[in-house]
Amino acid sequence: AKGKQSNLRTPIVVVMGHVDHGKTTLLDKIRGTAVAKGEAGLITQHIGATEVPLDVVQDFCGSHFGKEIEIPGLLFIDTPGHHAFTSMRSRGGSLADLAVLIVDVNEGFQPQTIESLSILKRFKTPFVVAANKMDRIGGWHTTTNAPFAKSLKVQSERVSEILDTRLYELVGELYKYGFDADRYDRITDFTRTVGIVPISAITGEGVPDLLMILVGLAQRFLKDNLQLTATGPGVGTILEVKEEKGLGTTLDVILYNGEFFAGDTVIVGTSREPLVTKIRALLKPKPLAEIRSEERFLPVKHVSAASGVKVSAPKLDNALAGSTIRVVSNPDEVEALSLELKSE
Ligand code: GTP
Ligand code: MG
Repeated sequence: AKGKQSNLRTPIVVVMGHVDHGKTTLLDKIRGTAVAKGEAGLITQHIGATEVPLDVVQDFCGSHFGKEIEIPGLLFIDTPGHHAFTSMRSRGGSLADLAVLIVDVNEGFQPQTIESLSILKRFKTPFVVAANKMDRIGGWHTTTNAPFAKSLKVQSERVSEILDTRLYELVGELYKYGFDADRYDRITDFTRTVGIVPISAITGEGVPDLLMILVGLAQRFLKDNLQLTATGPGVGTILEVKEEKGLGTTLDVILYNGEFFAGDTVIVGTSREPLVTKIRALLKPKPLAEIRSEERFLPVKHVSAASGVKVSAPKLDNALAGSTIRVVSNPDEVEALSLELKSE
């Protein structure tokens, strides 16, 4: 596949938005389409994330990207929209190279839309807005998985007008929070103007457009951040600290730079002093077809960024979700790394 020869790592795309606005359905759609096309094996499940290789994205879009696209694919992280999960959203936001802010086009901005937007602003994360559930507009004609332009052509004038009105309401909301925005096909510079992509996560309409824009933005982002690689000492963010039967306390980690090997010495943020420990096991979810036994995880010797992985190691009880886990390649580094972790 493309990108394999370069060191560019998979960009992390976080999907955010208000409860029920369609984050999980969008990821299901992308996965489901790959399954339907017999590409299920290409999609890798991660701990807390889904990796979509560039080939699958190209197939969904029905077009081949040019040579300028070197990224290996996209790593999507879903986040919960419920108001209680602010810290999960914030962690997601801090990890995101890019984000999709999902808004139900029929409901408009809601409290967690605004909260997500402020997280994106805080971390200066480039994002696109997916104006979801356009198929719910009365009288909508569905063209499954079609690009937006094709889908729009078969709508009545009334339906197009309703959609346009609702999109302009979103433009207005975004303006209120300091963002210039427009329908994505009316803008040329995605670094200045936020693109709004009308989609339906259920029918797949507009999803090809959304994926195309994400790939373009991701490629530019990674070109500007060449220090992010898939090799070298690993650094990750702890998404969750979890008890697992037979494993004790484990960490669900998004590795965003470099690599982890089983046996690596790592330093981990805790509620007290940073902790130095050794990776006992790196665990990935078992492929869907193989989940028969009690054992849900598959031990691997090595993972490279970007990945979602479960880390099993001794003494993790005080590890803190949201903090960093970092490979210590040389014992002399411990003191400096420890100070760095404490200042987070
Ligand atoms: P939380 O994880 O709870 O924040 O919600 P979510 O954003 O992941 O929403 P989810 O994907 O679970 O969708 C909520 C409901 O909306 C489900 O019943 C979906 O089937 C429905 N839904 C999502 N997207 C669409 C869409 O594009 N069109 C229609 N008609 N229904 C949708
Ligand atoms: Mg969800």
